[in-house]
Amino acid sequence: MTTDQQTQRPQAAQLDAADPLATQREAFYTPDAGQLTSYLDGNSLGRPLKATAANLQNFVHDAWGSRLIRGWDEQWMDEPTRVGDRIGEVTLGAAAGQVTVGDSTSVMLYKLIRAAVDAQPGRDEIIIDRDNFPTDRFIIEGIAAERGATIKWIAPNPASGVRPADLDGILGERTAVVVLSHVAYRSGFLADAPGITNAVHRAGALMLWDLCHSVGSVPMELDAWGVDLAVGCTYKYLNGGPGSPAFAYVNAARQNRLQQPIWGWMGADNPFGMTEAYRPAEGIRRFITGTPPVLAMQPIKDMVELIASVGMDAVREKSINLTEYAIRLADELLVPMGAAIVSPRNAAERGSHITVDHPMFRDVTAKLWERGVIPDFRPPHGLRIGLSPLSTSYAEVELGVTAIRDALAELQ
Ligand SMILES: Cc1ncc(COP(=O)(O)O)c(C=O)c1O
Repeated sequence: MTTDQQTQRPQAAQLDAADPLATQREAFYTPDAGQLTSYLDGNSLGRPLKATAANLQNFVHDAWGSRLIRGWDEQWMDEPTRVGDRIGEVTLGAAAGQVTVGDSTSVMLYKLIRAAVDAQPGRDEIIIDRDNFPTDRFIIEGIAAERGATIKWIAPNPASGVRPADLDGILGERTAVVVLSHVAYRSGFLADAPGITNAVHRAGALMLWDLCHSVGSVPMELDAWGVDLAVGCTYKYLNGGPGSPAFAYVNAARQNRLQQPIWGWMGADNPFGMTEAYRPAEGIRRFITGTPPVLAMQPIKDMVELIASVGMDAVREKSINLTEYAIRLADELLVPMGAAIVSPRNAAERGSHITVDHPMFRDVTAKLWERGVIPDFRPPHGLRIGLSPLSTSYAEVELGVTAIRDALAELQ
């Protein structure tokens, strides 16, 4: 591998040439010329697959247009759990019958956290960290107000995230459920999910992981780790498209002792019995509420199959290499201009994005978007560089970080 003479940095072209996953990029839809030069926001909205454009058209023609209402009996009633099982098998380390797809992440969080609190009388505390994504915090504040529960806040190191020791003195016999993000949305910190889950279980409480930023980028073993509950979105690294439905994982051992709060006919044990009273279905189906968003689930299937074809370990290896490269570039080009890398430098503690802080990054991001270079901005000063392993090249990362340096220089 050749390196840049001045910097000792490997060159992007060589890294791309040596990348065993480089050809996977061809599977993604390419925008018209001039629209995009570097996409660094796959951690917010993944790019569409070419297969998705064709499969959606087929779906409209065949399953919807030709089978019409018969589609529900023929396949759609089971689509939430069929797609869920495949997400579980390929990305979560979850055996069949524990994952369902539907609703938004926020609604799934509400259903599972409420169920966890309601199932444990005498345990009236919910633990979450102050740096968690707003919707997680807001949903918990709402549930605490509704159920008279108390929130115990963890204040983690903002440049990393929640470590097992942060739970010492907070976890206890009144803890009902602990809610944490597996990969922190800002710093990109990858939490020790098995270690924290164990600690939570030792206190007799339930553990819920928000997997929005890890599903499809970090391999998981939810069953082996003994995780109770998890939710995740599908529009980031599962490339489901804007507003694609979330998934919920409920460990089989917990399912029938949890009752979710939004009772709807599709989660009842006999939806077409038109019964007088609600009785929850057995198993994972009881976490469904209304008519599942079947159309919006279709693109998820294409990405899950692409991931299955290369394997999560290969995805993770590329993700680590991309984030390492982005850190090298940021050290060389952005840190000398006053920027600070606020993501873990240890790859084992990092997901698939890095965040760099600078007071001018809000304006820098706006300038870059006009130029087809697309990272995102999270207040107060964070520019996030998201590296979707199967759709991002090293050349794109180099071009993007160089463009950030140039825009910063113009504004300073
Ligand atoms: C950690 C985390 N949780 C939840 C959400 C979003 O929830 P929803 O899908 O309901 O908008 C996001 C969105 O980026 C997120 O990063």
